[in-house]
Amino acid sequence: MRYTITAALPYANGPVHIGHLAGVYIPADIYTRYLRLKGHDALFICGSDEHGVPITIKAQKEGITPQEVVDRYHTIIRDSFAEFGISFNIYSRTSSKIHHQTSSEFFEKLYQDQVFIEKESEQFYDSKANQFLADRYILGNCPKCGAENAYGDQCEACGSSLNATELINPRSAVTGHTPELKMTKHWYLPLDKYEPFLKQWILEDHKEWKTNVYGQCKSWLDSGLQPRAVSRDLDWGVPVPVDGANGKVLYVWFDAPIGYISATKELTPDWEKYWKNKDTKLIHFIGKDNIVFHCIVFPAMLKAEGSYILPTNVPANEFLNLEGDKISTSRNWAVWLHEYLRDFEGKQDVLRYVLTANAPETKDNDFTWKDFQDRNNNELLAILGNFVNRSMVLTHKYFDGKVPEPEPNAFVAFDKEIMDEFPIIKQKIETLIETFHFREALKEAMNMARLGNKYLAETEPWKVIKTDPDRVKNIMYIAMQITAGLSQVFEPFLPFAAAKIRKLLNFETVDWNLIGNCKALPIGHQIANPELLFTRIEDEHVVAQVEKLQSTKQQNLSNKFKANDSKPLISYDEFAKMDIRVGTIVAAEKVAKTKKLLKLTIDTGIDQRTVVSGIAEFFEPDKIIGQQVSILINLAPRELKGIESQGMILMTEDADGTLRFVQPTLQTKNGCEVK
Ligand code: MF3
Ligand code: ZN
Repeated sequence: MRYTITAALPYANGPVHIGHLAGVYIPADIYTRYLRLKGHDALFICGSDEHGVPITIKAQKEGITPQEVVDRYHTIIRDSFAEFGISFNIYSRTSSKIHHQTSSEFFEKLYQDQVFIEKESEQFYDSKANQFLADRYILGNCPKCGAENAYGDQCEACGSSLNATELINPRSAVTGHTPELKMTKHWYLPLDKYEPFLKQWILEDHKEWKTNVYGQCKSWLDSGLQPRAVSRDLDWGVPVPVDGANGKVLYVWFDAPIGYISATKELTPDWEKYWKNKDTKLIHFIGKDNIVFHCIVFPAMLKAEGSYILPTNVPANEFLNLEGDKISTSRNWAVWLHEYLRDFEGKQDVLRYVLTANAPETKDNDFTWKDFQDRNNNELLAILGNFVNRSMVLTHKYFDGKVPEPEPNAFVAFDKEIMDEFPIIKQKIETLIETFHFREALKEAMNMARLGNKYLAETEPWKVIKTDPDRVKNIMYIAMQITAGLSQVFEPFLPFAAAKIRKLLNFETVDWNLIGNCKALPIGHQIANPELLFTRIEDEHVVAQVEKLQSTKQQNLSNKFKANDSKPLISYDEFAKMDIRVGTIVAAEKVAKTKKLLKLTIDTGIDQRTVVSGIAEFFEPDKIIGQQVSILINLAPRELKGIESQGMILMTEDADGTLRFVQPTLQTKNGCEVK
């Protein structure tokens, strides 16, 4: 069977993070590696998506060219994927010549076949910069909430989606000038015309698609499709190949999916059989935000062109969150792959494992560092690593590292029972992978290692060796065959660990059929010395990561800080009623059974008095003794937790909620007035 497997082209305007890996690239890689192991012809295609407005904005912000932006991130992204063992046949890019040519020809073909509608409409134009403005280049006050600096397509303050023409006092993000409306011509793909075809093809013929994908398609199709513009007024992208289309480029969502085709062309002169042969299965791996483009827009383009196959399946995933919060590039709320590789050298498989075990296949899921640590220590190390190590160590101990010769008639019922389980689990894994249930498939693979542990625990070769050494030959023979099977079954999921097991077994063959095969390793085969597959992840390794995220959160809070509006005016007399003095803390203790309260004794210069203050989360009692504070001394006393509080300490509250004392900058006599 022939497969063309694509993974969404990531935007080259930033590095990639664990959300990308979990949602798209790991599942696509597991699927492709599995198909190859089964002997299929499976091409795995990807590359950087290098066009679109976010890239031009990033370039402008940094004062560099869009090409420099994409060059930088293309390299970082490509290298991260390679380090994680994502086994693309090609990782290309859409700024390449071959892509410009391919997407340009694609557009021309549709243009000549008169597929497009040409339409003029009014768009904002910056006459100072001589350019039309994309929505993201127009700023103004939000018509819904009044916030400043809402974008032409969205207000980030209230989350409303907007039309650029609705903005109050619109201005150009390029020059700051007020833009004017000007007529401009664009080409539209009449999706409405493809609606009957799409309804039949998806809603009737592809009921087997994942429910999240099918559901989104159905809701788009039910609410009726509209023509979609496939060009933009922009100077970065693939120029529209039509006379008189100066300053216009293909819309990024028109050219990017054609990138899958250009990359295949770049890879092989034989590319057509991967895109035009009806026997080829085309599978798109994407995140949920890409569903409409891959299930509706791109298939309509392919259908309109006429010579291409359509996707067989589009197994889109939901999103991965990080420590309870949405992953966000702009808020730097992410675990970046290039940073993980630096902080956890050689632990690519640990992340692959955790992200697969916790993949957002049917709903959004959460990544936490605690879960990462637990899964490494309690699963990879305690189950898989432990079994492989034990069976290798025992084989060395009893048989000099050679696969022992079993007595063929001496296998007991339990041996057979265990060995019979493996082909059944193998079959389960195949069905699960082929239906895109990768987390369940991984669980089953781990069950093979669990079964291995159970086998050794119950047969107890370390005891039997003293009474019946021949029996141990049969036991270790089986344990070695299980280990050989593990070195194959983990190849799609944990390619580094699987290769390492094969190396330790001194056995390089990669063949899916060896799973559950009782004769995978020949009798007398010499294995190498055991080495650990995984190492413990200690608290300190993950604590550093959690702290890094906490400081990001603080940073974001203070970036977001906006001063509250002023309270109504008061007279001087009203102000002067407050008697505020400098005092010194002479004693401090926590108020029992509360989290926030400290009981302070303050020398006010007049007296020593007790104040109960809600500052316990910010100060250690014995560290603040001797500090000077400002205290409101004529506040009516009140009782807190049974203690009479005689005044109030003045505090500042920072953007992140941190409290600090309002105190004189130099030592001041207690009792002096603050006014
Ligand atoms: N760059 C897009 C994203 O990250 C995905 C493009 S997929 C392609 O959401 F099909 F257009 F290539
Ligand atoms: Zn708003």
